[in-house]
Amino acid sequence: MDTFIKIAHRGASGHEPENTLRAFEKAIELGADMIEFDVHVCKSGEAVVMHDATVDRTTNGKGEIVGKALKELKSLDAGKGEKIPTLEEVLNLIDRKTKVNIELKRSETAEPVTKIIHNYVLNKDWSYDDFLVSSSDFAELKSFFDKKIPVKLGVIIRKGNSGLKNIIFRKYSYLDFAKSINAFSIHFSKFLASSKRIKEARRQGFSVFVWTVNSESEIKKFKARKTDGIFSDFPDRL
Ligand code: G3P
Ligand code: MG
Repeated sequence: MDTFIKIAHRGASGHEPENTLRAFEKAIELGADMIEFDVHVCKSGEAVVMHDATVDRTTNGKGEIVGKALKELKSLDAGKGEKIPTLEEVLNLIDRKTKVNIELKRSETAEPVTKIIHNYVLNKDWSYDDFLVSSSDFAELKSFFDKKIPVKLGVIIRKGNSGLKNIIFRKYSYLDFAKSINAFSIHFSKFLASSKRIKEARRQGFSVFVWTVNSESEIKKFKARKTDGIFSDFPDRL
């Protein structure tokens, strides 16, 4: 990839409540090339856009997403009066104005996300190329890969969960795992994004994106390390 990609992390979450339609609207307004958001599946089976497994931190409610039906989730305030959006509501708002990066947060997300992507491509004029699907849950990413849907895949490498406990990862290096699922990109936490790791991943043909980078000095640092894109809560700073 030749051009640098500006990725809005959880939407423009430095300006508006994370993972809400407001944050996604703001990211479009600020000129993001791609919008990243996180997907869980709730009790009634819908794919909903939220970061944590519980609603405690980002809403006025309490409890796990898997324990709540969509109707109950919709009664909560996700900040500034915003509701927790479904994946479809987010795609409808973005409407191909930017690329989207769907992060699979939990097991059992691959199936509903696959169905929704197919539907948007077959019936709503989206293209498979509009999507980048990523996860640090390697089993879920592998299960998404096995569905043979022609979208790009990204492997997330995070501190404390670099996949070492993961059954798949135990056998391979993360780059070998990425190759085994024909991944497009490696998404490093900034704490792991050394020049050496970035260089090696790019040498092996992967695009490299780093998260979550908000300060001007760090943005400069990771650009100098020749990353292909940066995730920021402030896409306007990229
Ligand atoms: O996908 C990049 C980044 O979003 C991964 O971390 O915890 O913000 O979802 P997190
Ligand atoms: Mg994320």
